[in-house]
Amino acid sequence: MIDEKPSRELEPSPPPPDVAIRLQSIELRYGEKIVLSDCSLDCIRGHTTCIIGLSGAGKSTILRVANGLRRPTRGCVFTLGSELSRLPETEILEIRKRIGFAFQYNALFDSMTVADNVAFPLYELTDLEDDEINERVKSALESVGLDGEGDRLPGELSGGMQKRAGFARAIVNEPEIIMFDEPTTGLDPIMTNIITETIKNIQHKLKVTCLVISHDLPSVFAIADEIALLFEGTIIEYGSVSKVRQSPNPIVQQFLQGSDVGPIPV
Ligand SMILES: Nc1ncnc2c1ncn2[C@@H]1O[C@H](COP(=O)(O)OP(=O)(O)OP(=O)(O)O)[C@@H](O)[C@H]1O
Ligand SMILES: [Mg+2]
Repeated sequence: MIDEKPSRELEPSPPPPDVAIRLQSIELRYGEKIVLSDCSLDCIRGHTTCIIGLSGAGKSTILRVANGLRRPTRGCVFTLGSELSRLPETEILEIRKRIGFAFQYNALFDSMTVADNVAFPLYELTDLEDDEINERVKSALESVGLDGEGDRLPGELSGGMQKRAGFARAIVNEPEIIMFDEPTTGLDPIMTNIITETIKNIQHKLKVTCLVISHDLPSVFAIADEIALLFEGTIIEYGSVSKVRQSPNPIVQQFLQGSDVGPIPV
């Protein structure tokens, strides 16, 4: 029989101030399907944590749990100093305003200019005057190398530029955390490098906590302070780039080498 005790059975262990996000023994199910199980992860404030793992492993789900879009079936989530599972939806919304999100698919509004797309969260979430909004949009577009492109429509931009427009929208509200879901998927190697550099620039300029999901290992090695490898619902390896690359765990090594021989079922 499935044990359906509520998530509060776990003793919450709030993180120290230098941890922006803590997932503590998370379980998350979609219906009967358990996607995350005893999944724990700390994302250090001001660092870039990259989550890697097989397709369908639950990486995007980790972001949804960390920003309160999904409530775990067990475990505790601490984001920006609050335990999300204790908060009502209205307060979770307040926390989410402090998080920028660059989606796996750009999710730009096709009929709105790039500048209006980038300004959208400011109109939605703030009472800023138009002048201030225009300044912030200009600065966000500069940060991603799209100065002067604000009047164009998304359909007129290349895939890489659309990605960067999505980044500009994610940073325009000056968030404390930025989540990037597969920022380089579907891009050519040159644009992949440009996007990788753009993320490094954002990180450096805004000194913000970044959470990045990526399948692109060179890009991960270039931007990560910490790497977390998600496998079968749990983080099986975590640490600096060199620590993870030197991991003795055969699952980690098989994943990093992209080999079809090893303990990972293919
Ligand atoms: N809303 C949902 N309802 C039911 N199942 C879902 C839902 N969202 C995701 N899943 C399933 O949960 C699993 C994890 O999904 P998730 O999108 O988190 O994986 P991922 O690691 O981000 O995958 P990818 O690398 O393909 O983006 C997948 O098997 C997916 O089909
Ligand atoms: Mg995903």
